Amino acid sequence: MCGIVGYVGKKKAIPILLNSLKALEYRGYDSAGIAYIKDHDIHIIKKQGKIKNLEQSLSINEDNHIGIGHTRWATHGIPNEVNAHPHKVGMITLVHNGIIENYESLRQDLTQDSYTFKSETDTEVVAALIDQMYQKNHDMLQTLNEVTKKLEGTYAFGILCDEHPDTIYAIRKDSPLIIGVQDEDYFIASDVPAILNYTKEYYLLEQGEIAILNDTCTFYVEGKEIKKKLKNFEGDSSSVSKSGYEHFMMKEMMEEPDVLRKTVHHMKEETFTFKDYQSIDIVACGSAYHTGLVGKYLIEQYADIPVNVEVASEYRYKKFFPKKNHLVIVISQSGETADTLAALKRAKEYSLDTLGIVNVKESSIAREADQVIYTMAGPEIAVATTKAYLAQVTTLSLLALKTAYEKDLMTKEEYEEILHSFDVGAVKVGKLLNKDYSEQAKQIYEKTDLFYLGRGLDYALAMEGSLKLKEISYLHSEAYASGELKHGTISLVEDGTPVITVMIDDHIRSKSISNNKEVRARGGYVIAISNTDLPSDSYDDLILVPHINDFVNPMMALIPMQMISYYVAKARGCDIDKPKNLAKSVTVE
Ligand code: F6R
Repeated sequence: MCGIVGYVGKKKAIPILLNSLKALEYRGYDSAGIAYIKDHDIHIIKKQGKIKNLEQSLSINEDNHIGIGHTRWATHGIPNEVNAHPHKVGMITLVHNGIIENYESLRQDLTQDSYTFKSETDTEVVAALIDQMYQKNHDMLQTLNEVTKKLEGTYAFGILCDEHPDTIYAIRKDSPLIIGVQDEDYFIASDVPAILNYTKEYYLLEQGEIAILNDTCTFYVEGKEIKKKLKNFEGDSSSVSKSGYEHFMMKEMMEEPDVLRKTVHHMKEETFTFKDYQSIDIVACGSAYHTGLVGKYLIEQYADIPVNVEVASEYRYKKFFPKKNHLVIVISQSGETADTLAALKRAKEYSLDTLGIVNVKESSIAREADQVIYTMAGPEIAVATTKAYLAQVTTLSLLALKTAYEKDLMTKEEYEEILHSFDVGAVKVGKLLNKDYSEQAKQIYEKTDLFYLGRGLDYALAMEGSLKLKEISYLHSEAYASGELKHGTISLVEDGTPVITVMIDDHIRSKSISNNKEVRARGGYVIAISNTDLPSDSYDDLILVPHINDFVNPMMALIPMQMISYYVAKARGCDIDKPKNLAKSVTVE
């Protein structure tokens, strides 16, 4: 949420700042700004809206070699130019990702010291605080050391000081920040994709560390210089380009067969299973929470372990009843989701064993969890998750399978056959991605409301289908347990209301067929996603998907739902990769 960048070196800064910001636009895009220093003067340009608005007001070829930039997802104050970053107070200009919780009391103190504020942001208050401290000692290192002791909340800051026009300062707490290095050029960024056009080498800034970048790059903790290990990004930079696709979302869906294969390969090497645990909590947000619901079904059904799935924003505040042999799994693509991270910390306070299932390497959740299993999705840029969700589901499915085998709940032959079936699944996913979903999109795109239905495993999948559609197409949609619809909500079904029913779970298919009929009797237009043929009076449109087994079938059902959402959003002219009001990495509570 919010992306920050910075550059100091021999190249022209503005094009680099813009390119880097574009790579981080998935983190927020309601306003953007940069600050650069030219001939010892600081210039700040900010614009409401997407980065292209900012780009239009910049002179790209201007000769300057140091600057910081920001793309915003508004927290304090509406998205406008005044609230956009960078903020300058006195000698200090900065960009910020995170939330300063004690900014109101700091603001009061600073106001008494005759500071005035133009914006409603917490960030401007920090600029003033740093300025106030710096004016007393004229020592940035000492100032930044002291300032971190006064700030409550989360932050990554890129900072410029008028008296040091060749230097960028960076600090962080609970918001990510990396320092990219290319010869004597230095970058700061909230995420690695922002620097991949220039370098794959970077330092990970740790909590409490201060980075000082000019013609060299030095790190300090508590005022003492430290040495850090340079890291190397392992992927290739095409993973952060659209590679000819119109949208990242389509490109990322097309990568799903490969992601499935890579996940299986990775999990074959993984030794962790649930066999020593008697109960499990799965905690996550949004789509990752839906992954947990699919996982619950498979773990309970096959590994015979009870699973409780909760959204992280609730879990982090609930009363805990710690049990023995209990595992808490947190699932997160970004590894930075504030609520999921807080839930994880809470579980650790109770000394519970924790496992992170995380996509972004060395993200906060990955580093905080006792154990981590990385999902093999690679960088995911589209705000709506597709391939990372598939990777999460596959990972949990394989963990359930391995645990079942280790607990002697299935034979070696069964285990190996199912393991092999994931490769078959990858081929089938490829085929499903190449099917035509325009007919379903045509039925839906002009409607205002729709429903997704399912029971058991199907319900878990329906919830993700519904979320995918509403987040990118802005159509109102609700996921309901099929059997629950008649307890009130069916009153909303009218002539032509689209109802997508997921029907891949063999055990309860006959019940779902009856529910379809109930909906059709009230005029609903039923699009059934099923892995077996259905009675013709139980649907209006049938999307037949392959039937493999319970472990792989979820991947078959989710592809049509992702594709339908994409084509509906496209038909409605929505900004598919950057849906309004959303951001990819939700680093605020
Ligand atoms: C939906 C979506 C969100 C995320 C949620 C958690 O397409 O992407 O619902 O799943 O914000 O994010 P992570 O997985 O980064 O913790």
